[in-house]
Amino acid sequence: MNIILLGPPGAGKGTQAKWLESERGMVQLSTGDMLRAAVKAGTPTGLKAKAVMEAGELVSDAIVSGIIGERLDMADTDAGAIFDGYPRTQAQAESLDGLLAERGRKLDYVIELEVNEEALVERVEGRFTCAQCGEGYHDRFKQPRVEGTCDVCGSHEFKRRPDDNAETVRTRMAEYRAKTAPILPFYEAKGLVRRVDGMADIEEVSRQIAAILDGQG
Ligand code: AP5
Ligand code: MG
Ligand code: ZN
Repeated sequence: MNIILLGPPGAGKGTQAKWLESERGMVQLSTGDMLRAAVKAGTPTGLKAKAVMEAGELVSDAIVSGIIGERLDMADTDAGAIFDGYPRTQAQAESLDGLLAERGRKLDYVIELEVNEEALVERVEGRFTCAQCGEGYHDRFKQPRVEGTCDVCGSHEFKRRPDDNAETVRTRMAEYRAKTAPILPFYEAKGLVRRVDGMADIEEVSRQIAAILDGQG
């Protein structure tokens, strides 16, 4: 099964993708995570992407479609791919169709996380992740069970994203409205779009997504 999780910054795409990985053995393909890894490693892609990401703008379609194509060639994605933060433009949506078709694969669902933008600023500003395993947390909504210790790997080191400040979040949301939300009709026309209430608590959103994947949504 191949699905897209679609929604603005802080909608919960990464949170739900990680849950699907652990529950269903699917693989999260987050272009944001891949780009952050490239920035950290100082690769040519990372050097091009760094300033664009810090400004909250979109990295070029050619770069992201290139990294997704490479990732789809790794065998672990055969178990099912969760596209998180990709595609983000009409051009990316069209190249994803091509990338999947070339590999004899197809999209099963596009799951839109419906959210209230004002609440998202708080979600994004309060977010932090484990520096070792990447598990996601939140100052208010999802603290580690033992303060200062990652639930998953036991690490004591956490980090915050440089683009998670109120001003950059506004730019990221504007980019979503202008370039990403307009791709929904493309997928509506194919009958692939399903909606979940992204304002519900994390477990409830997971339940709604599971119902869709099990054909009951
Ligand atoms: P990316 O990394 O994709 O960031 P984003 O789309 O802005 O989304 P976020 O990761 O901020 O939010 P999320 O939906 O994953 O929320 P999360 O689950 O963490 O992209 C970053 C940048 O990279 C872009 O700005 C762009 O520059 C570049 N880029 C990436 N892909 C690109 C592409 N395809 N094309 C061009 N450029 C690209 O949740 C947020 C917080 O809320 C967490 O703390 C979580 O614990 C909490 N939370 C989650 N769900 C709930 C809930 N239901 N209730 C309460 N709290 C919740
Ligand atoms: Mg994310
Ligand atoms: Zn960890």
